[in-house]
Amino acid sequence: MKKYNVLVIGSGGREHAIALKLSTSTLLDRLFVVPGNPGTASFAENLPGNVLDFGNIAGIIREKSVDIVVVGPEDPLVHGLRDYLEAAGILENVLFVGPGKSGARLEGSKDFAKGFMRRHGIPTAAYRTFSMEDREDAIAFMKTLDAPYVLKADGLAAGKGVLILDSIGEAVSALDEIFAGKFGHAGDKVVIEQYLKGIEVSFFAITDGHGYVLLPEAKDYKRAMDGDTGLNTGGMGAVSPVPFVTPDFRKKVEDRIIRPTIKGLEEEGTDYRGFIFFGLMDCAGDPYVIEYNVRMGDPETEAVMSRVGSDLLAHLVAAARGDVSGEEVSVLPCTALTGIVVSGGYPQAYGKGYAIDGIEACASKAAVFHSGTAFRDGRTVTAGGRVLAVTVTSGTLAAARELLYSALPDIKFENSYYRSDIGADMLKLSDK
Ligand code: AMP
Ligand code: GLY
Repeated sequence: MKKYNVLVIGSGGREHAIALKLSTSTLLDRLFVVPGNPGTASFAENLPGNVLDFGNIAGIIREKSVDIVVVGPEDPLVHGLRDYLEAAGILENVLFVGPGKSGARLEGSKDFAKGFMRRHGIPTAAYRTFSMEDREDAIAFMKTLDAPYVLKADGLAAGKGVLILDSIGEAVSALDEIFAGKFGHAGDKVVIEQYLKGIEVSFFAITDGHGYVLLPEAKDYKRAMDGDTGLNTGGMGAVSPVPFVTPDFRKKVEDRIIRPTIKGLEEEGTDYRGFIFFGLMDCAGDPYVIEYNVRMGDPETEAVMSRVGSDLLAHLVAAARGDVSGEEVSVLPCTALTGIVVSGGYPQAYGKGYAIDGIEACASKAAVFHSGTAFRDGRTVTAGGRVLAVTVTSGTLAAARELLYSALPDIKFENSYYRSDIGADMLKLSDK
């Protein structure tokens, strides 16, 4: 049986969870992570480097005889890592999980993603795209919509490029700020769209460009504070499965969204092999696409991977080779819950370098993924806003919540904070 040397690219909790799952594969030979984190260091070989230093990544692939590259974050994909390695001749005998620049526009350009959905009849909010010269038209278009107003900077804006405003006055001011450079060139074009009312859920597919397999779905808790209040964050927690995802809803998602998306990519000549993350809104039982991402979600991955019973490496090898038809994802019948411990102040200014205690105690009850930590002077310290992702699994959502909230208090560092209501809103929907 062929064994694979695997290179995972990234440094967060998502990459930790992906790498940990890959580490259990019988197909694995050696596992490298660039740059990785103190968590991945315990079971994989961390190698230094920036995820956008393509030359360094190419060097590592050659030097370590890497067989397959798995990219965690969107940045290297949107900036063309796949295209770079292809042009260097490296992908002739190395597999690669993630789209090239062309496919990565699904995430890298909101205008492209909306146009793609329009071309392929994929349900999404009504919209128009404007640039600075069309300011008056943009305002006129906003006036045809009902409040609240949704404004999206076209390009990548570190997850901050979506603004939702309650009044037309605030929306016009926000539009002017974006055109004035609030998000740099990412805001050269602005998508203005209809507000969708409903409840959000994320689906994840691994595609070979023709077919796909689905990973378990998840729901992310984006707001900083309990009760979905406070500022938007990268995600404060996640739950999988999502109780309102019935077989009927899943079928609608596959028929109306996932299959048309993959067929659309194929029709447009985009050879897309990798993850697709469908950020959806369930509007009274009908799914609409809010956004595409060309990678897994963080913290959704930390919950999702703990419910995958089959061999992730086998699925990724098949997708990268171009044929997932023989793959079957087995989903464990448990509930996974992830809570993020953040550094107080996040998502605004926060301190770094605080010594972290209690990781071992917490790890006796839960999986502890490193999101923003560093190893300094023999200690693990905080190095980011989202510091640790704590994941538990249990037979029921109620039991998972109990376990999560017995594990989270073990983590101790100055000014730490976590939400106390992860999964609570799903309890009433869950029959478990
Ligand atoms: P994004 O950065 O695209 O994930 O958007 C951030 C958040 O804004 C989403 O997770 C939704 O909660 C919200 N959002 C984006 N587009 C819409 C929309 N058309 N209607 C309602 N909420 C939206
Ligand atoms: N948690 C949302 C994301 O990864 O985009």
